[in-house]
Parts: sequence; structure tokens; C-alpha cells
Amino acid sequence: MLESNYIEDNFKKISLFKDEKVFEPDFIPKKLLHRENELILLSRMFFPLIKNPNSISKKILITGNVGVGKSVTIYFFGKMLEESAQKRNLKIYFVHINCRINYSSYLVLKNIVDKLKINIPIRGVSPIELLEIIIEFLIKNNAHLILVLDEMNYFQKKDFNFIYTLIRINETKKYQIYFLSIIGIVKELNLLKNFDESIKSPLQNEIIHFRNYNIFEIFDIIKDRVNLGLKEDIISDDLLKRICELSIDSGDIRKSLKILKNAVLYSEYHGFKTVTMDSIRISNAEYISLDKDQLSLLNFHELLLLKSICNLIQNTKRNNLTINEIKEEYFNLCLEKREKPRSNTQIWEYIQKLRTYDFIQSEIINKDIKGRKCLIRITNYPIDEFKRQLEVLINEK
Ligand SMILES: Nc1ncnc2c1ncn2[C@@H]1O[C@H](COP(=O)(O)OP(=O)(O)OP(=O)(O)O)[C@@H](O)[C@H]1O
Ligand SMILES: [Mg+2]
Repeated sequence: MLESNYIEDNFKKISLFKDEKVFEPDFIPKKLLHRENELILLSRMFFPLIKNPNSISKKILITGNVGVGKSVTIYFFGKMLEESAQKRNLKIYFVHINCRINYSSYLVLKNIVDKLKINIPIRGVSPIELLEIIIEFLIKNNAHLILVLDEMNYFQKKDFNFIYTLIRINETKKYQIYFLSIIGIVKELNLLKNFDESIKSPLQNEIIHFRNYNIFEIFDIIKDRVNLGLKEDIISDDLLKRICELSIDSGDIRKSLKILKNAVLYSEYHGFKTVTMDSIRISNAEYISLDKDQLSLLNFHELLLLKSICNLIQNTKRNNLTINEIKEEYFNLCLEKREKPRSNTQIWEYIQKLRTYDFIQSEIINKDIKGRKCLIRITNYPIDEFKRQLEVLINEK
């Protein structure tokens, strides 16, 4: 037997996860939250197909920032369509293709052939011939294919003609029925700049833009994963809210999930029983690197103030600090450095500047009728590293 076996050590560690795969980007949740409007809109647009198959050929485009649920919503929509079609014995095929992986006409066609279960050897058959075989199959079976070209901008340029053919094919008089609809997905319209107008304009007639999630929606979605994937009481709602705040600018759920997963892994690795604020900061640091140039723009007292916030977070193990306690720590630091502390007004201005630079975050709490209270915290950076950088700059000044 070996003296030490690090694989065995992992078995001894208590896992904080109930099911780690819940945090993977390709995990499909049981319920889709806060995209009802988009699903209702899509259902309305495609309803004529269920009422009267082959009566229309839809072309629509979906846009929206990274990680706002475009792909997962379309996945759910596909399931709804298939269910309704099955109920009525209609042949509606839903093929969702990611063009980053399937970037050529050949790969797209191969996916369609597989889904339609058309039994032909596709090697040596040209794309045009393959397309004809697919069309013949759809017409013969009175079927309709809804083709989703997700991350469409990744499609290779030399095959743009193929997309053009797909988009226009149901407009020619050659075929009696409508057998093909297309849903394109891109983050923003600009990304389609390489495509010809003849491809873009039919898609742009109907656009569904997925707006960013707000903080409450992000929270609900992430909380749902926490319930599914983590053991009980691993992360407080308050810390979960901090994670959600980190992706509020982008609305990127994938980012929140990754920060959460890494924070749990970090806590697990260090033998903690719950997720800590510092594990979140460390996990987030992967996304944003400390802007040292901006830090060096701070004057001596601003740096001292920032350092006092770091000191307090380390000493109190709290991440919500009142202005009064920050001031007290700042006064102590000034004393240590034999510096005259700045006035209250000045300190308040410094706090505003640190907030603008996103070095600190603040929250106004309505404590009682007597007044509001401002709480300060640091969410973005791991405190140890942050303080080290500050000390270097303070010593240089
Ligand atoms: N409304 C939601 N309910 C549950 N999970 C969601 C929701 N929206 C997004 N997610 C989850 O967030 C992650 C990102 O979603 P998705 O991949 O659909 O984003 P996207 O808009 O397609 O991003 P990209 O532009 O990068 O392709 C996925 O893990 C997805 O399951
Ligand atoms: Mg996507």
C-alpha cells in the first residue's frame, strides 16, 4: 500500500455538493424561470404551424447578451412544439444546431439527417444533393423542419451560400408546401455583419430580443440550482445575492453559476462547511483582474481608507461595514502613519470615488424611520491580495 494516496484523500473529504453537474453550463433545468414572455411570443409566432402544418415558413432571429438564456429557452420551446405536434400526430421536427461546433453545411446537414432518421450513407453526397434528399423526405411525409442555427455568426464564410439557399428555398415556386422554418440566434445584430443582406433581411423581419435578467430573476434562477445541487445550508441567501450582483451588468447566468461552483469547490477544498465571502471573492477574481493602474490613481488617503476597509473585513469577518467603523479604523491607520485624518466630507467623497471605481460596493438600508444606513463591502477582490497591493502603493507614496 502506498504511503499517501491523494485520490483516497478525496473520498475522505466531505462534499458540499448534492449533484455537481447541476452547475455545468449544459445542464438543462427542470423549470425555466422568468422567460415566460419569450416563450409565449414564440408560441404565438409558431402557432399557425400547429394549427395548419406546412402553411407557413417562419424566419425569426433571437438576440440577447451572453448567458441570458437564449439557448435554454429555445430548447424548452422545442420540447413544447414537439409535445403539441405529437399530440396531434403532426410531423414537426425541431433541430437545434450550434454553429460554433457545426460550422459547415455538411455538419448542419448531417445533424438534420440524423434527427430525421433518414437512412442514407452521406459520404460522397454533395450538400445540394443531401438537401434535396431532406426536402423530398419532408414533402413525402408532410413534415415541417424547424431549424435553429444557434450562435449563427460562427458559421464558416465559405458556406454562406448554403444558408442563403436554406433561407430562400421555401420562397421559390418549385415546392407546393412550406416545409422549413429557421430560427437564428446571435448575441447581437452586429455579429452578422459578414452575412449578405439577402440572408440577414428575411431573418430580421421578426426579432425577439432577450433582455438581461434583473437581480431578483438572477437570484431565483441561481437559488433553484442551489436547491438542486448543494446540500442544505451551504450558502446563505445573503452571500448568494452577492454572487448575483457580480453578474448583474452582463445578466450572464453562466458566470453566476461558475462563480458559485468555484466558490463551493474552494470551500470544500479548504474543509469549510459553508461557502464564505472570501471564497466568492477568490472565485470572482478569475473574471476580473485587479486594475492596478486605476489603483495607482488613488491618493494616499484614499488608499488608507481602502486599507481600513480591508482590515475591518479581515478582523470582523463581516462584509457589511458601517461608515463609522470604517472611519474609526481609518483614524487608527492615520495615527500609525502620523498623518492628519481628512474631514468627514472629504472621507465621504473618497468613499464615492472608491465606489465609482468599483473597488467597493455599497448598499443603503432603511433601518427604521429615524434614518437610512449605508453599508460598505468589498465583493470583487480577494482581501489578502488586495491588501498586499494597497500596502505596496501606500509605502511608495
Ligand atoms: N431562465 C432560466 N432558468 C433556468 N436556467 C437558466 C435560465 N436562463 C439561463 N439559464 C442557465 O444559464 C446558463 C446560460 O444559459 P444559455 O446557455 O441559454 O445562455 P445563452 O443566452 O444561450 O448564452 P450564449 O449567448 O453565450 O450562447 C445555462 O446553464 C442555462 O441553463
Ligand atoms: Mg447559447
